[in-house]
Order: sequence, then structure tokens, then C-alpha cells
Amino acid sequence: MPATSTFDAIILGAGAAGLFCAAQAGQAGLKVLLIDHAEKVAEKIRISGGGRCNFTNRDLDVRAPHKHYVGQNPQFCRSALSRYTPADFMALLDRHGIAYEEKHKGQLFASTSAEDIIRMLLAECATGQVAHWQPCAVKKISFLPSSADAASAGSYEISTDRGVVRAPRLVLATGGLSIPKIGATDFGYRIAQQFQLPLVERHPGLVPLTFDGAAWQPYAQLAGLALPVEISTGSKKERMSFHEDLLFTHRGLSGPAVLQISSYWKAGTPLQINLLPGTDLAALLQQAKARSRKLVVNELAALLPTRLAEAWVSQQPELQRPINEASDKALGKLAEQLSRWEITPTGSEGYKKAEVTLGGIATQALSQQTMECKTQPGLYAIGEVVDITGWLGGYNFQWAWASAFACAQAM
Ligand code: FDA
Repeated sequence: MPATSTFDAIILGAGAAGLFCAAQAGQAGLKVLLIDHAEKVAEKIRISGGGRCNFTNRDLDVRAPHKHYVGQNPQFCRSALSRYTPADFMALLDRHGIAYEEKHKGQLFASTSAEDIIRMLLAECATGQVAHWQPCAVKKISFLPSSADAASAGSYEISTDRGVVRAPRLVLATGGLSIPKIGATDFGYRIAQQFQLPLVERHPGLVPLTFDGAAWQPYAQLAGLALPVEISTGSKKERMSFHEDLLFTHRGLSGPAVLQISSYWKAGTPLQINLLPGTDLAALLQQAKARSRKLVVNELAALLPTRLAEAWVSQQPELQRPINEASDKALGKLAEQLSRWEITPTGSEGYKKAEVTLGGIATQALSQQTMECKTQPGLYAIGEVVDITGWLGGYNFQWAWASAFACAQAM
């Protein structure tokens, strides 16, 4: 049995939140051990943003986190987000000489590669003299009660395949369930259960949605086609809408519009999609009817991608004629269908394609200032393992940095 080493803090998970927390706590003078079971460090940073990591978003409104975050209580993240802002992370990149650029809607990406951000986080950990065990499997976690000997009372004891370690502070930074093939596990949730922390049910988020059988058959041929839309879901009271690009796939719908709405979509309910947002299609079709003898499909192809116009009209015999011969009723129905296409997904592509996990450790179990568990002293949870999920566009990494910072400052 190897001798037990002692640290001030042990952090489980060397992803975005764990690396940043380890670096900050180490630089604040704590003796930190960072443990991860995967072969490679920070795989999600590496594959994020198409390999360029969309690391934050300039449009984040820290006073109104519910605008960009989902969870039972999105206000929970306000404290941490306001103490570590997108500007703070940008300043860190500046100090390391890493170039970045803004793309769509405030999204900031590394100009060269996500690897630059991983190298930066590892360099920050080295400055903080963080011990890093990876790959390292955790076998068992125990909390040593106050009846233990004076030196270890109130500590966490972690048994790993590299030995037994102890610390008075344990941070869960093990992320969510998406992309299991690069190391995602339910470990954080299991540890939460071990310490009786409440969990909010988990679902894939930021995920393509799928449709089964005959309902999808006319659209399957459109795979690869993309267009800007307005997409909505939910009842009037809790309606969510996004203006983004929609992408047709062989099995359903994807693209930023669908990834965003998927975090709000409830199984069994429909999506409403306006395929021509900002256009009065009924009026345009009536004008075309008055001046043109072209086929309906050709008039429609002037407004929509041709393949989509063809797929749509091919399902409706009353539209397969010159537009001046189409009835007002048929044209009105066409305008209504295209500006309010209602379609009910049968499911999603699941965790193998989801960018995030909705749900997780319930925020009511944690202090929003420190991320420490209210009922379990010295146990902290940060990043995606917590029931806080950001929109597409850098909001999830910003939550990882901010929650890690709040935790490191408090330890
Ligand atoms: P993260 O998943 O980063 O890290 C968790 C770590 O815990 C992993 O290293 C894992 O190996 C480790 N772990 C798990 N189980 C363990 C166990 N049993 N023992 C030890 N270690 C264990 N967000 C964003 O803001 N901008 C973007 O561009 C993208 N792009 C993107 C693309 C793709 C394809 C995905 C899947 C996700 C994104 N995201 C994103 C989301 C973002 O990657 C995610 O929210 C953060 O990485 C969460 O950071 P965490 O540190 O909480 O978890």
C-alpha cells in the first residue's frame, strides 16, 4: 500500500473548469492535485468550435444570465459570471499572446487553434505548481469524519490507481455526459449521490433533433441544405425563439437554430419554423400571381433554396401548375405552411452528438458565491456537472471559467 500524500485541494476532471480552477488555486498558494482518467487533457476544448474553441461570448449580459443560460435557476450563475467576465478571459489570452477573433453574435474563437488555449491552461497550472495525474482512475472517495485522527479529520480520501491521497477540499469538475468516447462519464453525478446532493434529471442539450418514418421521408433528400430561419418552441407563456441557420440532415434537423432550440424543446411537443423570416410570403405570392405565368415551384425558388421549393411543392398537387392558375386558397396555405412549419421531433441524436448535458447537480445544493456544497463542507462542484447550461456560442466555456474562478477564490 503506497503512503498517503496530502494536498490542500484535489480536483477531479482536467477539462476546462478543472484546469482553470487548479491553476487559480495553485497560484493562490494551495498545494493542488488535478486528476483525470482520460489519456489526453481537455479533449472537449480540443474539439470545440471546429478546433478553434469558441472560448467566450462578448454579448454575455452578466446581470441577466437567464438570457443565455438554462437550468432550474439560471440566476445562480450571476454571482460567478459577474466576478469573472469574458473580458477577464480575453485579458488572460492577451497576457499569453494568443490571438483571437470575433465571429457571429459576439462569439470569440482562437485565431489559430484550440491547442493554444490548452497550452495556456497547462502553463497556468505549471505556474501554480499543480500536480497533475493523468490518466489516473479514481476507485473510491471517502469523507473522513471528525472522529478520525486530528490531521485527517474532515478530509476527503481518494483511492486511485496511483495511490491514496487526502485533502480537506475536493472539487468535482468531471463535466457532463456528452461524447462518451472522449472520456465523459456520470462520475460527478455518482459522487454527488454518494454525498446526498440533489440532482436535476439529465438530457442531451445543443443536439440535433431526429424524426422517424414517413413524416421525414420528403425532407431526407434535403440533407446538407442550410438556410436562415426563425425557430420556436414552447407554449405562449414560456416561448423561446432563435434566428439562426437551420441544417437538414438525413435523420432530421441540425445547425445552430436546432442546437439552440434543443435545449428548450420538451419531448412530444412541436417546433414551429419560419422558413422565410422577415418576409410577408402571402403578399409576395399574390403579387407573383398577378404578374407571372411561371410555375409555383419556380416562383418559390426565387425566395427559397430550389431543392426546398421542389420538395415542398412536390407534396402538393394543387401547386404543380403556373402560379396564375393556382387558387388563392392553395397559395395562402403554402404561405402559412412555410412561415409556420410545425413539426414534432421524435427524439435527438443523444449524447454521442450533444455538445452539452442539461441538468446535473442542483444549484440549490451549492453556494453561488463559492460553489461549495451547503451540506458537505469542503466539497465543491464547478462547470458542466452543475445544472447550468449555456447557449451555443461560448457561454458554456465562460461558465466553466467563472465557476472555477469562484471556487478557487473561496478555497
Ligand atoms: P469537461 O467535459 O471539459 O471536462 C471534464 C473532465 O472530467 C474531462 O477531462 C473528463 O475526462 C474528466 N472525467 C470524466 N469522468 C471522470 C472520471 N470518472 N474520473 C476522472 N476524470 C473524469 N462550449 C463553448 O462554450 N464553446 C464551444 O465552442 C464549445 N464547443 C463544443 C463542441 C463539442 C463537440 C462539445 C462536445 C462541447 C462543446 N462545448 C463548447 C461545451 C464545452 O466543451 C463544455 O461545456 C465544457 O468543456 C465543460 O467544461 P467542464 O470542465 O465542466 O467539463
